[in-house]
Amino acid sequence: MVLPKASPEYSEPEYAKPQDRAKAPYYHSNIDHRLVPEELLEKYSHVAREQQLEHIHLIRDKTWDIRAYPCIGLGSWFTPQLSRLPVYDDILRHVKEGAVLMDIGTFLGHDLRRLAFDGASSDKLYGVDIVNHFDISYEFFRDRDRFKGQFIQSDILSTLSPGLIALQGKVDIVLVSQVLHQWDWGNQVKAAETMVTFTKPGSWIVGNQIGNPVAQDVHLKSLSTTVWRHNLDSFAKMFEAVGTATSSRWETQAWLRTFPEMGWDAKDGAWMEPNVCVIEFVARRPL
Ligand SMILES: C[S@@+](CC[C@H](N)C(=O)[O-])C[C@H]1O[C@@H](n2cnc3c(N)ncnc32)[C@H](O)[C@@H]1O
Repeated sequence: MVLPKASPEYSEPEYAKPQDRAKAPYYHSNIDHRLVPEELLEKYSHVAREQQLEHIHLIRDKTWDIRAYPCIGLGSWFTPQLSRLPVYDDILRHVKEGAVLMDIGTFLGHDLRRLAFDGASSDKLYGVDIVNHFDISYEFFRDRDRFKGQFIQSDILSTLSPGLIALQGKVDIVLVSQVLHQWDWGNQVKAAETMVTFTKPGSWIVGNQIGNPVAQDVHLKSLSTTVWRHNLDSFAKMFEAVGTATSSRWETQAWLRTFPEMGWDAKDGAWMEPNVCVIEFVARRPL
């Protein structure tokens, strides 16, 4: 089910606006190699193996025409990420027991489908995104008649939609992958403070984002933007600051990963700064 959007004010970076594929260093015309032995399309979506390459290219290009995010052009979203997080088994168990999970920046809701495929009941799953990729997600996963998760169109840096406000204080696990890194320190803190409003004691905030062993502001020339790169220390500090601002306490655990460790090519990050990597994280709000 897709809930209507609330606010026309968007806070996306300029580079996310639709742009010419040929000019983007992170649009790779051939993403065949992303089709790692992948059961989701075959066993969940029932897309025959011989149709899968055509299917992922078609859907990737449809989504690129909506928003030109680097991970969409690279096709890196297609490599399973949530299921390789060290706490994935705990997340899955928790959701199977009835926990509510909200995926912020859900894009095609692929992580939600992974949970459903792994046995979670989809009716406790919520996908949030600033723009509607949801209709294409049903086309990709061929599950409009059976996926019971709800999609909410809302900007988490701006006025929240009523559907999101209704979930404040009710979410057990907030997932945020490949989203926070698009912002500077200030907007990452702002987004994290908003995420905290959905939580309650016992909740977790989990996910990953692009990181660097040296925490720093990085100017990305090809995106004409400056972003904050976290390392383990700065990530913990951000949650200390967020906890203070929201009167909540957070215990963080994080891991730095190379691109190959994420299942990506080392050259996928060649258009970014040296030593770029990924930070996976879990922030726990004690009971
Ligand atoms: C790079 S994709 C990541 C998709 C997915 N989470 C993953 O890990 O593969 C970032 C997603 O965040 C969404 N997004 C960007 N800014 C947002 C905002 N302010 N509020 C909600 N969603 C946002 C984009 O539309 C996009 O679908």
